[in-house]
Formats: sequence, C-alpha cells, structure tokens
Amino acid sequence: MPSLTDRIEGLRRAFEEAAGKAADAKALEELRTAFLGRKKGHLTLLFEDLKSVPAGEKREAGRLINELKQAVSAGLEAVERRLGAARPAAAAASAGEDLTLPGRRRYVGTPHPLTLFEEEIERIFLGMGFTVEEGPEIETDYYNFEALNFPPHHPARDKWDTLFIEGDLLLRTHTSPVQVRVMERTKPPIRIICPGRVFRHETPDPTHLPMFMQVEGLVVDEGVTFAHLKGTLEYFIRALFGEKLKVRFRPSFFPFTEPSAEVDIECIVCGGRDAACRVCGGSGWKEILGSGMVHPQVLKNVNIDPEKYSGWAFGLGIDRTAMLALGIPEMRYFYENDLRFLRQFGAK
Ligand code: PHE
Repeated sequence: MPSLTDRIEGLRRAFEEAAGKAADAKALEELRTAFLGRKKGHLTLLFEDLKSVPAGEKREAGRLINELKQAVSAGLEAVERRLGAARPAAAAASAGEDLTLPGRRRYVGTPHPLTLFEEEIERIFLGMGFTVEEGPEIETDYYNFEALNFPPHHPARDKWDTLFIEGDLLLRTHTSPVQVRVMERTKPPIRIICPGRVFRHETPDPTHLPMFMQVEGLVVDEGVTFAHLKGTLEYFIRALFGEKLKVRFRPSFFPFTEPSAEVDIECIVCGGRDAACRVCGGSGWKEILGSGMVHPQVLKNVNIDPEKYSGWAFGLGIDRTAMLALGIPEMRYFYENDLRFLRQFGAK
C-alpha cells in the first residue's frame, strides 16, 4: 500500500490531468463528484484514512490533504470559468455567427437641422431680452391681412400668394399675424419673436417652397427708432454668421411697416463668384428678411397709441437663412427626410 503522501501526490496529478481535459459541463461535474463527492470522493476517503495514521504523522498528513482539497476546489473553479467563457463563442459558432466581426453601430436620432437653427436664432434673441410667442397656422383674413393694414382687395395682397381655405379662413402667409395677436393682448413694452410655419402658393425651386418657416420679431415701446431696428438686426446677423459677413439694408415696401427695408447677406453658397448660382442667381446677394417701423395704422388697429409708442418688426425666412448659413444649395433637402442629409447635423 502506497503511503498517504504518495496517494495525495498521485491524486493531485490525476486531478490536474483530468481538469486539463474537461471539455464540457458534464466532465466538470464528474470531476467534482470524483474528488469532492461526500461518500466516495477521493478527499472524503483520504480524510477517513487519516484516522488510522499514527499520531505523530497526523498533523503533517492532515495539512497535505487540506492543501489538495484547496487545489481541487480552485482547479474546479478554473475549469468552470474556462467553460463559461467559451460557451457563447461556441454557441455562436454553431449558429453560424462570426464573433470577430465589428459590432453594428446603432444610430441615435438627432434634431432636424431647421429645429437646431431655429433654436440658435431663439438663443440670440432670448439673450437680448425677447420672449418667444406662437400663433395659429390657420388664420383669418383679418389677422393675416386687414389688421396689418392691407385693405380688402388691395393689390399688395398678391405678393403673398395666399392659400385660401374657405370663407374667411386661410393658411397664414407669414408670421406677422402673431404680432397683431400679441399686441392686442399685451401693453408695451413688447419684445417678442414668433417662429412658425407659413404657407404660400409657390412652385418649389432651390430657394422657394410652398411651406417654410419664418421667425417674426417685434419691439414696441416709447422712443423706439429705426436705429434700434438696424442695430439689433445687425447684431443678430453677426451673431449668427460671424463678424465678416457682408450685410446690406435695401429700401422696400410692406403695408404694415413704414419705412421698410429688406436685408440681404452675401451669397455664402457661391460668394458672388458663380454667375449661374442657383441660390443668388449670380447677384452675390440673397434676401433673408423684411423689416420696418410698425405702421401707425397697425398700432391703432390694436389700440396702441402711435403718438406715444413706436415699434419695429422683422420677418426672417428660417429655411433660407439656414441654407445660407450651412452652405446648402437646395432648400428642398430640408423636407425630403433623406437620412444621408439629416445625419450631417446635430449631435454626433
Ligand atoms: N411678413 C413679412 C413677409 O413675410 C416680413 C416682414 C415682417 C416685414 C415684419 C416687415 C416686418 O415677407
């Protein structure tokens, strides 16, 4: 009969060899039972035999058996880890998947470029103490035209290619009716911007759409002058486009403002260098907004005394300004929902 020490050594080697070969959960369990099984496991038997070891050798023999027990436990755990880690790869391989392929990126949606641009505009005006107001997209003739000093049948209405609904109702052609609604219910000082969708009977081309976005601005207070209009709009345009951009004010006409001015900025798409530019037509300038001093008649229509108060207003095409700011040659891209276009904007 080999000595206890030799048996321990033999079992250690046998365990290591079997553990190295164990290739699945079944082999692992068999190994566990063979060594740690309560009734007939090798270690149980060793501990039993320890009883018959002479008293002088008991201590040392006990220590060796305990060492083997720890080695076996650790060895079983290592096998378990090895099998556990291998399991998904093996399963995937048997299912025909290749785990070495790079993962598929999940695309997270981003806000629409026009939303981002509108928020940028709002941020600039909020910083100057303006508040944001909204109004209905379906308007009455009164708010869209009459209160804004367009008499019925006045030829100036033609400029706003209107989409009529029925009777008195129409799709608003600009965001100016919101200024009327706000002035009706608010006492000066008033300092607002009103972003929103507007509708016109237009044939789509690179810079015109039947539906687009505008932001209207309105200031009414005592002692407001054209200098305020010019200073504020220049500040706004520089904040949006940077200091170097060329800007020009051009006299214009709107029934609801007097005097009126349109503002052009240099064509960012061609820089004035392309005679066939589809955005500026080769002029090098593109109109982005209309503005002017609120007509005294408009103030009277909303019961604000034009002797005491004056105001200025502007209306800016958000889509058109965005296309110039972003260097996009085609306004229709904004509405086609082509992800290749949309993914270029917003958070990455
Ligand atoms: N409402 C005008 C338009 O749509 C723009 C504008 C707004 C002009 C306010 C002057 C003052 O063209």
